[in-house]
Amino acid sequence: MRKALILGGDGGIGSAICREFRRNGWKVLAPAIKECDLSSPDSVERYLAANAGALKGVDALVHSAGINEPGPFEKIGMADFERIAQVNTFSFVRVMQHFAPLFKKKRRGHILAISSLYGGFSRAGRMPYALSKHGLNGAVKTAALELGPYGVIANTLSPGFVDTPLTRKNNGQAVIRSFEERIPLGFLAAPADIARAAYFLCSPQNTYITGQDIVADGGYSAGGFQK
Ligand SMILES: NC(=O)c1ccc[n+]([C@@H]2O[C@H](COP(=O)([O-])OP(=O)(O)OC[C@H]3O[C@@H](n4cnc5c(N)ncnc54)[C@H](OP(=O)(O)O)[C@@H]3O)[C@@H](O)[C@H]2O)c1
Repeated sequence: MRKALILGGDGGIGSAICREFRRNGWKVLAPAIKECDLSSPDSVERYLAANAGALKGVDALVHSAGINEPGPFEKIGMADFERIAQVNTFSFVRVMQHFAPLFKKKRRGHILAISSLYGGFSRAGRMPYALSKHGLNGAVKTAALELGPYGVIANTLSPGFVDTPLTRKNNGQAVIRSFEERIPLGFLAAPADIARAAYFLCSPQNTYITGQDIVADGGYSAGGFQK
């Protein structure tokens, strides 16, 4: 039975990704924040050390944890920039470091990080998030280059606007309607839409897509945003 480690597996998108892997017969490891707190390098080290045996059998590594704390960049302290980058980017780099020798030895493995449109462009008030997601895309691309010769595949998947409680909370009804008007497909993604793409990118079916940022945004970034 194939095995996946899914970080952020309790989240709106992460829980849909866990369901999709299980539906396809995979065993899923999804540590809760109290077991592996990505804002704390010590907590990540403890998790990796305590679970070293179980992690050896992992075939796919997925990062679906993330935080976004909007605000004007002039008012955001460096400690907050660092904490957001720690959760969204650096801790995942550390986890990829753990898996690199294991995947190289097996000569296979899939790595996927859920990024964002803000990994390619930004929006006023989103500097910490955009910085962390741009960095995440660069980190995963580099991993794809270094691990490709060993048969390891690494990508990011960037959702546009996903219909989760968080999206509804952070954006009023009028803003959600304006997104829907600008998305050529006419609706926000369901978490399951993202989960299916995530599963494909990590499945044995994905034999040749690597080093890419795959955008799943209903056509918004293709030009829908111009409306
Ligand atoms: N929703 C969207 O529209 C959207 C669009 C583009 C990209 N994304 C990206 O998609 C990913 C998942 O987002 P989502 O919508 O599923 O958000 P979510 O529902 O808020 O889930 C975020 C997940 O990250 C976990 N997390 C937060 N801080 C953590 C920490 N310090 N250590 C370990 N885990 C931590 C959360 O754990 P707890 O539940 O325990 O707090 C939760 O499982 C994120 O990377 C996000 O940036 C989302």
